[in-house]
Order: sequence, then C-alpha cells, then structure tokens
Amino acid sequence: MNPVRAVKGRLKEWVFRIAPTRLYLALYARDTDRRVAENPARASGHAEEAVAPIVTAYVRHLGLEPHQHLLDFGCGTLRTGKHLIAYLGPGRYVGVDISRGAVDYALDLVARNESLSRKTPRVELVEPFQELDLPRPPDFILCHSVFTHLVRPAARRTLHQLRHVMGEGTTLALTAFCGESYGHRSYKNIQYPVSEIKEMARQNDIALEELAGDWGMSQTIFYGGLAGSSQTAG
Ligand SMILES: C[S@@+](CC[C@H](N)C(=O)[O-])C[C@H]1O[C@@H](n2cnc3c(N)ncnc32)[C@H](O)[C@@H]1O
Repeated sequence: MNPVRAVKGRLKEWVFRIAPTRLYLALYARDTDRRVAENPARASGHAEEAVAPIVTAYVRHLGLEPHQHLLDFGCGTLRTGKHLIAYLGPGRYVGVDISRGAVDYALDLVARNESLSRKTPRVELVEPFQELDLPRPPDFILCHSVFTHLVRPAARRTLHQLRHVMGEGTTLALTAFCGESYGHRSYKNIQYPVSEIKEMARQNDIALEELAGDWGMSQTIFYGGLAGSSQTAG
C-alpha cells in the first residue's frame, strides 16, 4: 500500500478510537456522507442484493406485517429500507439517520421512484440520541447494522432513546458484531459480548434474545420487547 495512505489510515483508526462519543458519531456520520458521495450502492457496506433478502426474511420471521408501523432506525440510503417500504402499506414506514448524505440520497430515491413515493414513507435526518417525534409507538423497530458501529456510550444512549418510543407491543430487532470482549474491529466496526448487549438492553427495561438459526450474516440478530410485555423474547 502507498505509505501516505497507510499512515492516513492508521491516523484515522486512532482518531476514531480515542474520540469522545459525540465526536465519534460526528466523524462516523461524515465518513458515511463521503461513502454515499463516492458510491451510494456500497455506502452501507455489503451490496443490497446480499443484505436486503436476509433483512426482509428475518423481520417477517419476527412478525412484521404489512399493516404495521416500522421505525427503521439508521435507515441509511434505504439499501434495505426500500424493500421494507415496498412490503409495508402506505404511511407505515419511518426511517431516521444521522448522515445527511444518506438521508438526502434516500429522499431523492423515493422522489424518483413512483412505487416508493406512493407509500408515503417518512425519512428524516436526526441528531444522535434526539427525542424521536412519532405519532404512535411503532409496532417494530429495526436497527440493522447500526449497533455494529456504536461505541459503548453511544449504544447505551441509543437503547435509552429507543426505549422512549417503544410501547407494550413494540418488537425491537437489532444486529451486532459479537465476540468475547468489547472492542473495535476497525475504525467503525465495534464488537460486543452477547451478555453486554442484553445487559445494556435490560438496563432500559428491554429484554433481548439472540435469534436462532443461520441467517447468513457475520452479525448476530437480537430481538425482543419491553420487559414483561407480550413481545418479550424467550
Ligand atoms: C451500515 S449503515 C446501515 C443502513 C441500513 N440500516 C441498512 O442496513 O441498509 C448504518 C447507518 O446507521 C446510521 N446511524 C448510526 N448511528 C445512528 C444513530 N445514533 N442514530 C441514527 N442513525 C444512526 C448511520 O449513519 C448509517 O447510515
């Protein structure tokens, strides 16, 4: 590798690792903006063709039905969101994201696509941890490939943020990279022990379990609901 690029890469890795939470998220959002500008098809990582069928399969397995209201938290460029919008009835999809580039791209995609815009999805830019303005508790909250990028304090605060919009009937599904200990796999890929994900959720009255089965991903799928509710996993 070109030595200048190698040094830049090491520096970036170091800055992301030592940045306080808000700065980390600001840097991460700008990194996503840059990736969207360079190649929107790969801005969220793996290609849509590989990821969207898996996500639509597991949310349906977990009970998402077309008449239900979905919050796609960290919706990005609608890599998977466009398939969920197609599956859901009109007015049932809300997507939020902290990357202006991703949200602008998503809004443009909806505006250019008649079958998507007919479903009147709501896609919004949000600040990290902001109170979400939803007319009702969603039936389903999806965080696909979002906690995979959240450092510990951000993951804790995000669970707290989500807990505030959850109702008795809300199913929460999130994915995470899991390993023996907490740590960075790369500048923006973070792994957690399974027990830590569950404990952070439990501290917010959310009961999560791993979804059994081989879903063809390197991420673990967690699902559940408010502790003691009918959506509680297990
Ligand atoms: C890897 S992408 C996944 C996008 C989409 N869920 C998918 O699977 O196609 C992760 C997205 O989560 C967003 N994100 C990360 N932290 C967030 C937060 N605290 N609030 C809202 N969005 C967030 C990022 O900006 C990014 O667009």
